[in-house]
Amino acid sequence: MTVRLGDIAPNFDAPTTQGDINFHEWLGDSWGVLFSHPRDFTPVCTTELGYVAKIKPEFDKRNVKVIGLSVDSVESHLKWEGDIGETQGTPVNFPMIGDTDKTVANLYDMIHPNANDTQTVRSVFVIGPDKKVKLQITYPASTGRNFEEILRVIDSLQLTAQYKVATPANWTAGGDVIIGAAVTDDEAKQLFPQGWTTVKPYLRVLPQPGK
Ligand code: BEZ
Repeated sequence: MTVRLGDIAPNFDAPTTQGDINFHEWLGDSWGVLFSHPRDFTPVCTTELGYVAKIKPEFDKRNVKVIGLSVDSVESHLKWEGDIGETQGTPVNFPMIGDTDKTVANLYDMIHPNANDTQTVRSVFVIGPDKKVKLQITYPASTGRNFEEILRVIDSLQLTAQYKVATPANWTAGGDVIIGAAVTDDEAKQLFPQGWTTVKPYLRVLPQPGK
């Protein structure tokens, strides 16, 4: 199955290291990050899960629930968690799905057979409180993810859900933003009475609203 931006994130029931869940019920009104890794007891994955555990307060601050996944079993995940806590400095503090029958992997197209026909690639899905997919990124097995980038995109998604703005290249929270292309100057005067800089008629820049 192909999951595209704007689609409702496919729902599923699954066993996790923190008990059985129904995905949509588990998400509740929160934002969500669903991310897969290829295999338990592998080096890059160990660093990734340790890092996510370390920065979980950053996800919590943004009202984002995080959940990991691989085709290994919950029992395997639980054994591996001991190594992650020991070597990465933070115990795993979010659930991991044991997707042994590949139900979730197939729903989210996480197995790319020309890369590896049994393991999940490094997929990331960001899901909004409306259960719609807001971001998907796919990394190869040999490249550990930059989770600061995931947080950065979440900051942009949450800002642009609240204000009719877009964020420019390499934007980080607090930086200048761009008035959305669909917003007329007359509408912009109502929305942004503090004003903006017109670089080109289609490129109108202003300080991040609500800062
Ligand atoms: C790793 O996590 O180190 C890894 C997993 C699968 C393939 C390559 C690397």
